[in-house]
Amino acid sequence: MFLGLDLGTSSLKGLVIDDAQRVVAEASAPLSVSRPKAGWSEQAPCNWIQAAESVMDTLAKGGHLSNVKGIGLSGHMHGATLLDKSDDVLRPCILWNDTRASSEASEMDADPDWRAISGNIVFPGFTAPKLHWVAENEADVFEKTAKVLLPKDYLRLWLTGEHVAEMSDAAGTSWLDTGARDWSDALLEKSNLTRAQMPTLVEGSDVSGKLRAVLAERWGMGPVVIAGGGGDNAASAVGMGVTQVGQAFVSLGTSGVLFAANDGYQPDPETAVHTFCHALPETWHQMGVILSATDSLNWYANLVGKSAEDLTSNLGPLQAPGRAMFLPYLGGERTPLNSGNVRGGFVGLAHATDQVAATRAVLEGVTFALADSRDALAATGTSFESVYAIGGGSKSDYWLKAIATALDMPLSVPEAGDFGAAFGAARLGMMAATSSTDIATPPPVARVVEPDRAMTVAFNDAHQKYKTAAQFLKEFA
Ligand code: XUL
Repeated sequence: MFLGLDLGTSSLKGLVIDDAQRVVAEASAPLSVSRPKAGWSEQAPCNWIQAAESVMDTLAKGGHLSNVKGIGLSGHMHGATLLDKSDDVLRPCILWNDTRASSEASEMDADPDWRAISGNIVFPGFTAPKLHWVAENEADVFEKTAKVLLPKDYLRLWLTGEHVAEMSDAAGTSWLDTGARDWSDALLEKSNLTRAQMPTLVEGSDVSGKLRAVLAERWGMGPVVIAGGGGDNAASAVGMGVTQVGQAFVSLGTSGVLFAANDGYQPDPETAVHTFCHALPETWHQMGVILSATDSLNWYANLVGKSAEDLTSNLGPLQAPGRAMFLPYLGGERTPLNSGNVRGGFVGLAHATDQVAATRAVLEGVTFALADSRDALAATGTSFESVYAIGGGSKSDYWLKAIATALDMPLSVPEAGDFGAAFGAARLGMMAATSSTDIATPPPVARVVEPDRAMTVAFNDAHQKYKTAAQFLKEFA
């Protein structure tokens, strides 16, 4: 048996698979985000450990951990978890959707070395600009920083006692030479850091350490290896066997992602497409990332005092987009706008715009943002023939129908869709613990959502209007 632990933004999920990769148990514990100032987004690492303890205790109580031989980790990317020389946490983790380091990121991005070596724009949400912000604004914290860990790698430190990162997550720091799959000393030096402050690097399917004896005993486990694992998107891809060129998936989580596997390292750092290492050796991928997918729906649900489920459960069959349009830039946007300062908007409101119309507009806005990512990927020469859909938002058939229509492609929803990254992490745990490399097998598909071709023209027209409104908001910011 193998366990995947996925540190998500809104919950930590654990999923156990048997030797035939069938899901045998799941558990999750909620997490929340703190936003102490405009554009900030933080989590306390001690809350991740509490959530992991709760998930592990639940799985152990159900008798699901005693035969587990390998654990894989996955987690939200780009977070800056800063530790002192005793491994004590120096400040709350600055998360992937925190845009406080916008001016630092622009300054760094003006130096061509960052794009040339890391293969990506220096986005405000990436790890390196956050360290520049800390150096400028919290000099005492920067002085004391002995290690910089990504969020899931802090869980690994707790599980194994080791400081280790893997390539897919490390590629989102801006300090990785993404083509060479190694830290860049030259880039670290520009941030006044050294390799000694960074974790050791392994591949996602490699062993990164062993479960500490005290924890193994607590959960009634024998010897267990911990795999490198992957950033949440690369791990999800492993879960769906999205490792070959032509394969892709859409993730509707707090963030929205359109992920495509590549045939080698194909950076295009002049665009806001992300080019990262995949979680398997010698593989790379690209993706478009939007910062607020289910986050937009949850924001609107909160605004009108309803649950997201209530709002989306009675939308009926897909309708052509109405005049009301929503742009989901609640905390800035990455692909394609690369702006930490842009903010969202409703446009085209009328007296007749009711809650149902506004809900549809929110779902459509996220849909068009993902269609923008499709266009950005296409402009770099990346296209795909098959698309999976995962994440909490994939529970809404209306939303999936809209996305399938806008992308003009069927979407396959895996059975463990909500646990996609945890499933992929469990597969990486299996690869590290055994000689099995069977991850090309697609996961069991629960349903396939076809595009509504009668709506194609209406969706394309509305997408063009959306692009105009997006440019206006970017200038307005
Ligand atoms: C990817 C990204 C998000 C987070 C949270 O670049 O920032 O997808 O990993 O899921």
